[in-house]
Amino acid sequence: MGNYRQIMEMERVTKVAVLGAGNMGHGIAEVVAIAGFTVVMRDITEELVQKGYEGIVWSLNKLVEKGQISEKKSKETLDRITTVVTIEGAVSDADIIIEAIPERMELKKEVYKEVEKYLPDRAVVLSNTSSLSITELSEVIGCPDRFCGLHFFNPPIKMPLIEVISGDHTSKETFEFATQFAKKIGKFPVSVYKDSPGFIVNRILTPLLNEAAWIVYEKRGKIQEIESSAKYGLGLPMGAFELSDQVGIDVAVHVLEYLRERLGEEYGPCPLLVEKVDEGNVGRKVGKLRSPRRRGGGRSRGGS
Ligand code: CAA
Repeated sequence: MGNYRQIMEMERVTKVAVLGAGNMGHGIAEVVAIAGFTVVMRDITEELVQKGYEGIVWSLNKLVEKGQISEKKSKETLDRITTVVTIEGAVSDADIIIEAIPERMELKKEVYKEVEKYLPDRAVVLSNTSSLSITELSEVIGCPDRFCGLHFFNPPIKMPLIEVISGDHTSKETFEFATQFAKKIGKFPVSVYKDSPGFIVNRILTPLLNEAAWIVYEKRGKIQEIESSAKYGLGLPMGAFELSDQVGIDVAVHVLEYLRERLGEEYGPCPLLVEKVDEGNVGRKVGKLRSPRRRGGGRSRGGS
């Protein structure tokens, strides 16, 4: 267990590794660096990690333009962020590791196996998974008591909520530490004591996005009407399709597939969403959406 107790004192934390520089990864790196921590952001290629870095530059410039942070703070934030392409380079002297790679159980497990090789014995490992089992993920590394869910929302810089999820092996100290860390980076943590698929937010949100798609797929309503209903009836800040576009349709589909696998057929993604993913048309992160194209036949509701 080594220096395990030491890391539980927040003031000792200096370096945070963020694995994944995609939509969530680079947004998380930005939030953590703004809060004053040194951040090393990792992705699998130079191109991907650079794209993530440019996303941070864009976001910081926006915040400066809107008067939400000073130019000085923006520059200091950038100075605290470095990028790497190896897991060793990211993890080997980090106090906290935040994993934000794509939502695939097997992929995450592969990365955790690699992380374990270089993991300092004082470090805490936090997963930004939006739905996958924290218990199952934690069992890949040799210190599952130091593993916890820390789920941010998109865009991380704007969204105040963080779900802190305890797995079966997460120690009380790790859970408390993750909660304190969420507060330290200016977020509002909610405790999720039961590690169940989709936790709280995605158990509610992804079925909502899916139902919106089913209404269109079954020709019961048009996108414009659903968007107006979501905004002006349900009071959501964005329409359901606009939100899928922002979150990433691929992310929504992965979560729904996992919910289907663990909770039942009724959670299966609507073919309209699956089709978008098959086309690589997953939302604003890849550019402008094309209009939905139907394939003959399609899948029946709940089918695979
Ligand atoms: N960094 C900096 N600026 C950003 C930004 C970012 N990452 N993202 C958007 N902005 C900018 C926009 O470009 C826009 O700038 P312009 O006016 O120059 O175009 C500006 O912010 C918008 O500012 P507003 O004041 O109009 O809006 P806002 O800041 O009050 O709200 C919002 C923006 C927070 C995104 C709001 O629309 C919202 O809450 N949307 C819903 C988001 C949501 O529900 N996210 C959760 C999704 S679920 C999830 O993420 C989990 C999962 O696992 C699937």
